[in-house]
Amino acid sequence: MTHTPDVSRSYALYRRAAELIPGRTQLISRRADQFAAGISPVYAQRAKGSRFVDVDENEYIDWVNAVGAVILGHADPVVDAAVKEQIDRGSIYTLNSPLEIELAEELAAAVPSAEMVRYTKGGGEACAVAARIARGVTGRDKILICGYHGWYDWYQAANFGVDPESGEYPFAGIEPTGVPRVLAGTVFPFPYGDLDVLARLLDDHAGEAAAVMMEPARTQLPPPGYLEGVKKLVEQHDGILIFDEVSCGWRLRIGGVQQAVGVTPHMTVVAKAMSNGYPMGAVVGQRAVMEAAGRMFISSSYWSDNIGLAASLTTIRELKRRESERRFQEIGESLRAGVDQAIAAAGLTGSLIGLHTNPTLHLTLPDESLRPKVNTLFVQEMARRGVHCYASFKATLAHTPLDIEETVEAAFGALQVIRQGLEDDSLDALLLCDLKKEPFRRLVR
Ligand SMILES: Cc1ncc(COP(=O)(O)O)c(C=O)c1O
Repeated sequence: MTHTPDVSRSYALYRRAAELIPGRTQLISRRADQFAAGISPVYAQRAKGSRFVDVDENEYIDWVNAVGAVILGHADPVVDAAVKEQIDRGSIYTLNSPLEIELAEELAAAVPSAEMVRYTKGGGEACAVAARIARGVTGRDKILICGYHGWYDWYQAANFGVDPESGEYPFAGIEPTGVPRVLAGTVFPFPYGDLDVLARLLDDHAGEAAAVMMEPARTQLPPPGYLEGVKKLVEQHDGILIFDEVSCGWRLRIGGVQQAVGVTPHMTVVAKAMSNGYPMGAVVGQRAVMEAAGRMFISSSYWSDNIGLAASLTTIRELKRRESERRFQEIGESLRAGVDQAIAAAGLTGSLIGLHTNPTLHLTLPDESLRPKVNTLFVQEMARRGVHCYASFKATLAHTPLDIEETVEAAFGALQVIRQGLEDDSLDALLLCDLKKEPFRRLVR
């Protein structure tokens, strides 16, 4: 019988948070209901490499990694040493830092679309900067989007596009409460993979669309020719193509998905993993587009902070030095092989599917409506066995063969429970928590 870890301190803090912090957490993906609420830990006290220790002193193998913001591993000694050294020399100066130029050169060398660079402190913020630049350069207001691009008004206005009474918001789970209604009709979502719909949308808004912003990939590589087709359509309409590589960048290729598929957008947004957990984001792009940003009001005090710059420079150099692309392939493939074996050994059919950088559990089920229960049970049973994950896995370079072995062992236990639940029709009885929530329905899987 698997022992459920005591997570009482986590949930005592979570109750206190309810009194003090609207929504309890700063990032929706960190809410307890995104995991197995009541079983999964909510608060951590320290993290190192591939593991963290929660406030109840339980240790977990971490396959969430600050929702992708950590790429080398928690508290990486090389990045942290560079940051500590920088703190001793000043975390922010009165004057500008030469590191801004050094990192811009590093980004220009790594990311195909990068000729000029602006910095921010996060991904959503960088998307907002990219939207501003695109609108400023083209003199057009409308933007077509495909993916998640942050919390800012320009983007959330997309959810005015559908009357919630008559249908779903494009991003189910996000209500545009507080977003100015005057922005309705400025941003339009399009489904990933369908060039005809995009072509129709661009025709409908001919001469008015400043940009197409999209996640070029998430858990799967794009269908052959798709991104090439998108770029062609955008150029036919004199618009700007922006790839949001906040989540897909760095792991598959250091230069992003654009490097892997050979399609170069006009602008790119990067953040998260570029700095191994230190706040940082950047908008990079072709000179012809980016130069105009110098005449726009795009300015903020902490974009000149040295910590993110030092962390990013070191992270990108360490990714290269540690041969990240090959290592991520090895880690992803080894995890896939182990979990696939565990699925078969537990008497189930299915596989870890998708890119090796973000493999996702897919079991063959008798009825698709059982999937939310099965996925929640998986997260619950993995948590009970000391593994913190969604029904998918995001590796860091700190994950070791032992981490993979222990994760596969935990998965075998979790999958046996799932098989039993499916066989006896006892999934409900086995679930010790409510069904985990999806933060919002994504357009790019
Ligand atoms: C593709 C994409 N764009 C933008 C963002 C927003 O980044 P941040 O949470 O740093 O504002 C995210 C965050 O998950 C993302 O996945």
